[in-house]
Amino acid sequence: MSNDNLIIFDTTLRDGEQSAGAAMSAEEKLKIALQLERLRVDVIEAGFPVSSAGDFAAVKQIAENITDSIVCGLARANEKDIHAAGEAIAPARRKRLHTFIATSPIHMQKKLNLSPDEVLARAVAAIKMARKYTDDVEFSPEDAGRSEEDFLCRIVEAAIATGATTINIPDTVGYTVPHQFSEIIKRLRERVPNAHKAVFSVHCHNDLGMATANSLAAVLAGARQVEGTINGIGERAGNTALEEVIMAVRTRRDVFSCDSRIESRQLVTASKLVSSVTGFPVQPNKAIVGANAFSHESGIHQDGVLKHKETYEIMSAESVGWSSNLIRLGKLSGRNAFKTRLVELGVTFENDTLLNNAFERFKSLADKKRDIYDDDLLAVAAGTERDEDNRYRLLSFSSTTGSDRQARATVVFSVDGEAHTAEANGDGQVDAAFCAVESKIQSGASLALYAVRNITAGSDAQGDVSVRLQKNGAAVTGHGADTDIVIASVKAYLNALGRLEGNASRTHPQQQTI
Ligand code: KIV
Ligand code: ZN
Repeated sequence: MSNDNLIIFDTTLRDGEQSAGAAMSAEEKLKIALQLERLRVDVIEAGFPVSSAGDFAAVKQIAENITDSIVCGLARANEKDIHAAGEAIAPARRKRLHTFIATSPIHMQKKLNLSPDEVLARAVAAIKMARKYTDDVEFSPEDAGRSEEDFLCRIVEAAIATGATTINIPDTVGYTVPHQFSEIIKRLRERVPNAHKAVFSVHCHNDLGMATANSLAAVLAGARQVEGTINGIGERAGNTALEEVIMAVRTRRDVFSCDSRIESRQLVTASKLVSSVTGFPVQPNKAIVGANAFSHESGIHQDGVLKHKETYEIMSAESVGWSSNLIRLGKLSGRNAFKTRLVELGVTFENDTLLNNAFERFKSLADKKRDIYDDDLLAVAAGTERDEDNRYRLLSFSSTTGSDRQARATVVFSVDGEAHTAEANGDGQVDAAFCAVESKIQSGASLALYAVRNITAGSDAQGDVSVRLQKNGAAVTGHGADTDIVIASVKAYLNALGRLEGNASRTHPQQQTI
């Protein structure tokens, strides 16, 4: 590996998915993985296979379908985890096994109840085991940010000697600050005698808002892999936002002296996809992928940009994938034009029936909406696939409301093809609709999140609604899109109900069963 190559390791599907309420279906994970491959990330951490049968299957499916990026599975330092991860990534053309064990005094004493020597022995045994499945083994001393330097050096040296080819240094609880974190990387590279045989990687959490700064400081100290997620999603305050690191090193190559192979024009699409699947909106002022990141509202800025772009723009909106994606499809467009544009956007349907259903939806959208954008087409395609997979389908909806009366909703929906009519009053039309569905289904779930995002601009825009339902500790997010946001809300609620039923409990990687 040349020293100016920065490896981008995406853990949206593993650490990102660990964030409360971000659970994804296998299909959604595959869809995101395919987009990550279009983005040209080097490594996709596809999941934690031992956590559930569903996650095992999702990682395996990704391993079967991804051809360019390396597919990685996570395992704690024990035989069962490593076996599950090894089996799940087996079909991948290029595969990596990532194993970890905690090395900070607090984690070793309070969580593992193991001495440092015992931890080191387990790390070595785990790496040996992992090497039976692949030569590409990554080792992480969890909570490295709070670990003692001498022990960290000892375990990293042993890990490399045993065959770990990537050493990942996690700031698991987002505790370090940039100069301190870069010092950890520098000291390890200086002190560990076989350090030159491994790639040093960093994995930062954002509890103090310093994940990107810490990662970049580590790059300056010689780290050549950065781990993170799209939109910075992840446990608690999240992980390093990869789009920020990618564009920081590219825009400031003069400072960082390295670059990644990322196709940066795919960043916005990746961000929108992750936001839509998880239901986590992207704040408008978010660097790179926020809706306002390239808008120049103030008169002074606009004047400058019009005279010479670089007065206020350090990178172009197009370079990260913002473009006016108005397409020339309308209600007179044919099925072929529709299909061709979707293929260009990376969407294909499994069969003609699905394509026909999507085309019908597109026609009815074109009847209601003047301008159709790529994002509208993607929403149509996603809605078609969602309905195909769901037991619950909206057949029709009507409601009455007013400033001087209670809202009343009538929802006609089918469950496994059998139609039901439900009516209820509520505090507004959305509440009335949800109460109506619940009056029939009685799921016992509680509503943990309700969010509406406009897919494009204008009052005729489709609303993309996310509904998160929680039951017995499990949470799922359902989605629905429509030009009428109340209808989009009912679709999202029915989608969430269907997903709640298929959701089994999972083990968390930081839950220790050594
Ligand atoms: O934050 C962390 O320490 C992790 C490890 C599993 C690498 O996610
Ligand atoms: Zn993490």
